[in-house]
Amino acid sequence: QKRVGLVGWRGMVGSVLMKRMQDEGDFNHIEPIFFTTSQAGQAAPNFGKEAPALKDATDIDELKAMDIIITCQGGDYTKAVYPELRESGWNGYWIDAASSLRMDDDAIIVLDPVNMNVIKDGLAKGVKTYVGGNCTVSLMLMGLGGLFQNDLVEWMTSMTYQAASGGGARHMKELIAQMGIINSAVADKLDAGSAILEVDRLVAETIRSEQMPVDNFGVPLAGSLIPWIDTRLDNGQSREEWKAFAETNKILGLGDSPIPIDGTCVRIGAMRCHSQAFTIKLKKNVPMDEVEAMIAEANDWVKVIPNERDITASELSPVKVTGTLSVPVGRLRKMNLGDEYLNAFSVGDQLLWGAAEPLRRMLRILLE
Ligand code: HSE
Repeated sequence: QKRVGLVGWRGMVGSVLMKRMQDEGDFNHIEPIFFTTSQAGQAAPNFGKEAPALKDATDIDELKAMDIIITCQGGDYTKAVYPELRESGWNGYWIDAASSLRMDDDAIIVLDPVNMNVIKDGLAKGVKTYVGGNCTVSLMLMGLGGLFQNDLVEWMTSMTYQAASGGGARHMKELIAQMGIINSAVADKLDAGSAILEVDRLVAETIRSEQMPVDNFGVPLAGSLIPWIDTRLDNGQSREEWKAFAETNKILGLGDSPIPIDGTCVRIGAMRCHSQAFTIKLKKNVPMDEVEAMIAEANDWVKVIPNERDITASELSPVKVTGTLSVPVGRLRKMNLGDEYLNAFSVGDQLLWGAAEPLRRMLRILLE
């Protein structure tokens, strides 16, 4: 069995990955070796398979003994360890959740239900570095992959509604703490007869007050939103917005003739599902039933939701999707802009298809 080094398995994405690997029986096919940045020598976790004591995640010699390394430890770890490991002559497979190596020429962004051809091509050429994509990009492609497969997208905008989990575990807790503080400020004034403008004034006062914990988001998110995610680029885009174009085209292998994609990325008060509203300029006028069939047939997880109010409200929401691999796509209709303009809305769990799932699937591809 291949010796598979696991780094960053205790964090949020790492924990989701371990759970998925356990659920899918991945540990039956590997010899797992768990690494740690702080607790070398302690007992390894048991996800249904014995493993030796934890090894030091910065020990190049220990890492070199692995056939495959999967890391969810984050970009700083990758930057600190990966170059040295490669320079030492290690030629194993590196599977990474962090963004640091994504755009490297010798790395492939993995999302096998969408780009198995690119992955297979990379394997045949001896590529050894496979990186999970940005969550919004991966979730968009899981939802709209059928339109790209059929070469129908001339250009696209994506307006996002991104969950707290994209920031990290502490951000999720901060959001809930903020919600609690807002509720406590008016909990005794929510009966039908109370004066709503007084409730509203107290809520606004509370959200703006020093009481609100904002160490992680910097500003209140509960009862509000943040129309900026990640750093600013010189052209005025946020880095998250830039990724939609750069990563989508890299995932699809369209480097020579990229599809224009842009939009505005917004943080909202959902827990772990990212939602996105799309305007898609099609290359030609395709009937709606054909559009829906293409989207629905692209993979086993996408689900077309009829463009009806009640089913949309119940099926196309973060609450419905959270913790599942389902990627519903709905609000499908031609826009008033013209017959070649398609409206769509998608929801997906950013810790599953947006982070952990493509990594464990890449592992399984390597083990085939
Ligand atoms: N950058 C994403 C977000 C998460 O902040 O929502 C990681 O892909």
